[in-house]
Amino acid sequence: MSQRVLVTAGASGIGREIARAFAASGARVFVCDIDEAALAALVTDSPGIGTTRCDVSKRAENERMVAAALQWLGGLDVLVNNAGIAGPTVPVDEVPPDEWDRVVQVNLTAAFDVTRLSIPALKQSTAGVVIVMSSAAGRFGYPNRVAYAATKWGLVGFTKTLAMELGPFGIRANAILPGTVAGDRIQRVFEGRAKLSGKSIDEVRDASMRNQSLQTLVDPKDIASLAVFLASDAGKSISGQALAIDNDIQRL
Ligand SMILES: NC(=O)c1ccc[n+]([C@@H]2O[C@H](COP(=O)([O-])OP(=O)(O)OC[C@H]3O[C@@H](n4cnc5c(N)ncnc54)[C@H](O)[C@@H]3O)[C@@H](O)[C@H]2O)c1
Repeated sequence: MSQRVLVTAGASGIGREIARAFAASGARVFVCDIDEAALAALVTDSPGIGTTRCDVSKRAENERMVAAALQWLGGLDVLVNNAGIAGPTVPVDEVPPDEWDRVVQVNLTAAFDVTRLSIPALKQSTAGVVIVMSSAAGRFGYPNRVAYAATKWGLVGFTKTLAMELGPFGIRANAILPGTVAGDRIQRVFEGRAKLSGKSIDEVRDASMRNQSLQTLVDPKDIASLAVFLASDAGKSISGQALAIDNDIQRL
């Protein structure tokens, strides 16, 4: 039987690559996202993918979304908690408390909610898998991005605990920690750093690349391939891990 896969925030960026890669592997895929236009574009591109609009920071929306996903998929084998926002790029004492709350809701609490609601269905699967999108910011301190780093470290603890609790039910849980990924978001991150430091965007980008062994951006397709591998039978001995895919970042 095909794998049944739910990807949060999968209408663009890394999530879209993950959704497409699972679909290409023969899986049945359901995607939620806050952006309706991006969801419509995804369906035009990949007509077999099921979608619904959902703001994962809203508990009631998650309840409706997970129910819709389980119905459309007819169960669940793979949950990909991909949703995450960058939050502000400012020193910790200048972080607006409401923005802190928003980052915690989207990055951390949503993963808790969507996972909590999915566990009964994953327990019915013969090979349940949870994938959590952390970040290199879940492995290093990240000056001026405290909300992001705190939530991405939190997701590693979340994942390791899930692996221990759910292992006895045959469910594996792993976190993926991407580095500097090619795409729209990294441009916004570099702009934020440039504004704060007074440097040009090119200088900020060069400085970021100097912190890596492989001085290039990560291809989002490689992250999608890692997710498909982790969810496959070939990944059946891997659980409770925080897997970096970051061209060997030494520090952020
Ligand atoms: N891009 C990177 O360099 C990078 C690096 C490390 C980790 N990550 C992580 O990977 C994940 C995906 O990152 P990305 O760069 O593809 O993101 P992105 O900024 O491109 O956004 C991906 C999608 O998230 C959706 N989204 C935003 N808020 C939402 C909400 N409240 N509810 C539902 N959907 C919402 C957007 O509409 C968009 O379609 C995130 O968890 C991010 O923290 C990204």
